Amino acid sequence: MTAHVDKRSADDEIADLSTAKHHLQVRQTAIYVYEWPVRLWHWVNAAAILVLAVTGYFIASPLPSLPGEASDQYLMGYIRFAHFTAGFVMAAGMVGRIYWAFAGNVHARQMFVLPFWSGKFWREVLIEAQWYAFLRDYPKKYVGHNPLAQLAMVTIYSVGSIFMIVTGMALYAEGAGKGSMFDMAYDLVIPLTGNSQNLHTIHHLGMWAIIVFVMIHVYAAVREDIMSRQSMISTMVSGWRMFKDDGK
Ligand code: HEM
Ligand code: HEM
Repeated sequence: MTAHVDKRSADDEIADLSTAKHHLQVRQTAIYVYEWPVRLWHWVNAAAILVLAVTGYFIASPLPSLPGEASDQYLMGYIRFAHFTAGFVMAAGMVGRIYWAFAGNVHARQMFVLPFWSGKFWREVLIEAQWYAFLRDYPKKYVGHNPLAQLAMVTIYSVGSIFMIVTGMALYAEGAGKGSMFDMAYDLVIPLTGNSQNLHTIHHLGMWAIIVFVMIHVYAAVREDIMSRQSMISTMVSGWRMFKDDGK
C-alpha cells in the first residue's frame, strides 16, 4: 500500500511541470542530417526488400500444389510479378540514391564511401564494436552514421544490394529473352557463374546476407534509439538528429 502511494506521488511530480526545476535541465541540440530523398528512399527500399525476400523465398520454395485445375491457378505468377515489380523499384531506387550521393549533403555519401586510410575511423569502429558488445559504459556521439554502421552499410548493404540487382536482372533476362536490354547483366554475370543454376544459387544466398544485415540493423537501430545519446529512428523519419544529453 505504501509503495503504491509512493509511486503515485512520483508520477504526479513528473507530470507537474512546475517541479521541473528540481530535475537536471539539459540543452538539446538538433541537427538536420538526412534529407528527404534519403529518407524516402530508405523506407520505400525497406518495403521493396520485404516484398523481395518473401516472394523470393516462395520462388525458391513454392507452396504445395493448389487444388483444382492447374490452368485456373496463377499464384506463382502473382508471386513472381510482385518480385519483379519490387525488384525494379529497388533498382530504380538505387539509381536515384547514387545520384543523391552526389547531389545531397555529406551524410548522403556515407553509404557508399569508407575513409579506408583513416586510422581514426578504424579505431572508432573498434570503440563502437565494444559499445555494441556491452564492453563500454558510454557511447560516443555522431551526427551521421557511426563508423561501425557505416562499415556495415558500405560493405554489406551497398555492395550486397548492387549484387542482388545485377544478378536479379541477369535472371530476368532469361525470361525476357535474347536481345532484351537485360542481356547486358546476363552477359556480365553468366561467364562468371558458369551457368544459370549457379546464378540462382548466388542470388538466393545474397538474400540471406541481406536478411542477416536487416535483422542486425533493426536491432541496432532500436537499441541505439534507447541506449545512445542521440535520436535514431525518428531521425530517419524527420531528418533531424536530437542530442539527448548536451550540456552534460
Ligand atoms: C529491409 C529493411 C531495411 C534496410 C535494407 C535498411 C537499410 C538501411 C540503410 C542502407 C541505411 C543507410 C541509409 C543512408 O545512408 O542513406 C539505413 C539507415 C537507417 N535505418 Fe534502415 N533499413 C531497413 C529497415 C529499417 C527499419 C525497420 C528501421 C527502424 C526500426 C530502420 C532504421 C534505420 C535508421 C534509424 C537509420 C539511420 C541510422 C543512423 O543514423 O546511423 N531501418 N537503413
Ligand atoms: C534484396 C533483393 C532480392 C532478394 C532478397 C531476392 C530473392 C530471390 C530469391 C530467393 C530467388 C529464388 C532463387 C532460387 O533459388 O532460384 C529469386 C529469384 C529471382 N529474382 Fe530475386 N531477389 C532480390 C532482388 C531481385 C531484383 C532486383 C531482381 C530484378 C528484377 C530480381 C529478379 C529475380 C528473378 C528474375 C528471379 C528468378 C525467378 C524465377 O526463376 O522464377 N530479384 N530472388
